[in-house]
Amino acid sequence: MTTTARYDRVQVILHWIIAAIIFFMIALGLYMVELPKQSELPPGEESVRAFYFLLHKSMGITVAMLILLRVVWRLTHKAPPLPDTISKWQQRTAGAVHGLLYAVMLAMPITGYMQSIFSKYDTKFWGIVLPRVADADKATRENFSEIHEILAFLFITIIVIHIVAAVKHRIAGTGITERMSLKRD
Ligand code: HEM
Ligand code: HEM
Repeated sequence: MTTTARYDRVQVILHWIIAAIIFFMIALGLYMVELPKQSELPPGEESVRAFYFLLHKSMGITVAMLILLRVVWRLTHKAPPLPDTISKWQQRTAGAVHGLLYAVMLAMPITGYMQSIFSKYDTKFWGIVLPRVADADKATRENFSEIHEILAFLFITIIVIHIVAAVKHRIAGTGITERMSLKRD
């Protein structure tokens, strides 16, 4: 069974591009923080930590732009109504989970950028040095770093819930997953 109401093409394309980048960002973030710093390596060995940090920051700012575009698009374009076959509590839960996903999607790059601002290292965007807007401050950087990390784990939890719900709908054949499908018939 399929439902006729679907998300428009812009929302669908942005959903999947952003989701792919976020998966990459989470994996990259978790990987890079475990890499040894230059000072922790024996002489002669070069740390790749800075390379991956710079990649994470550039990619993070890029996805932030896409997320902003998506939020603006979403605020100006309603979600297609859910069919009556989906109970009211499920509709409310889905709305709450989606709202949380949007909130954390925005909070991740903001907290990431904030810790970067207070770091002693410059923030670069694909090689371009961004203007320094604050003096380096270790304590503030660590606070934002802590929030960024906690949010990352909250994000992973909500994404898992979101995916489990999608898989359940797919198995049950409710037609909900087709609403966000790239395939059009
Ligand atoms: C959707 C966007 C983002 C996601 C999903 C994400 C995800 C993550 C994750 C999972 C970690 C590892 C957390 C840990 O175990 O400590 C991390 C660390 C980090 N992120 Fe992000 N991030 C995003 C955006 C950004 C942005 C835009 C910046 C900076 C411009 C940034 C800067 C950093 C830095 C510097 C760390 C290392 C923190 C440390 O040294 O403890 N992130 N990020
Ligand atoms: C980082 C990963 C993801 C994020 C941040 C994310 C975020 C979102 C958000 C915010 C919405 C609500 C759209 C709106 O009303 O404007 C949504 C809808 C949806 N997502 Fe995801 N998503 C992710 C991954 C996935 C994956 C992997 C699947 C499939 C397994 C999926 C399937 C869906 C479906 C089917 C909908 C439409 C739900 C409905 O019709 O009410 N998403 N997603």
